[in-house]
Amino acid sequence: MKKTLLFLGQTARRWRTMGAIAPSGGPLARTIARKVGDLADGQVIIELGPGTGVITRALVERFPRNPILAVEVNEPFVAPLRKEFPAAMIVQGCASQLEAYLAQHGLTPDDVGVVVSGVPLLSLPSDLPQRILTSVASVLRPGRPYIQFTYSERAWRRFHVGGFERLPSKRVWVNLPPAFVLHFVRSEPSSS
Ligand SMILES: C[S@@+](CC[C@H](N)C(=O)[O-])C[C@H]1O[C@@H](n2cnc3c(N)ncnc32)[C@H](O)[C@@H]1O
Repeated sequence: MKKTLLFLGQTARRWRTMGAIAPSGGPLARTIARKVGDLADGQVIIELGPGTGVITRALVERFPRNPILAVEVNEPFVAPLRKEFPAAMIVQGCASQLEAYLAQHGLTPDDVGVVVSGVPLLSLPSDLPQRILTSVASVLRPGRPYIQFTYSERAWRRFHVGGFERLPSKRVWVNLPPAFVLHFVRSEPSSS
């Protein structure tokens, strides 16, 4: 309840940054964690926009031997995330700066297994969505996945997701509102 109130408070103050009326439900979070597929032990999971940590929790449960680096722009979420997930690297910052955050933690794109995102690219201003997509591409080696949830699969067609191939998405009806889990895979540099 406390987490939901925190989320709703941020939604009321920063609608474009939040882009959601409620935290994701457990079924959506678990669908996202399953879409990640298999990771080698130790490969880093980058999570963008963890909010109150529903997806983080599903990732920790499915991948207990993989470090998580979570990037959250909204300061009020950061301390609760650090408290709940003491083993995770929780960065307060923008998803458009991923290479810098990796370097700050002594990591490189070779270490990254997947990027999972709840950042509402459809509602962010100006060129920030494209800068975030470029940042995601910069930290994933070819063949590695980028999983993004959205409430409007159709609206995603207006984005140029350069450097990725798109695989079939998954609809999750049991969520408020119903959501889609989009699945991209980083392409070889020559086909980007
Ligand atoms: C739709 S909410 C999703 C929250 C949580 N992952 C969930 O599923 O309940 C979007 C989250 O993205 C965060 N966010 C928005 N823009 C961001 C950015 N540029 N960098 C990092 N996080 C961002 C928001 O603060 C918020 O926590």
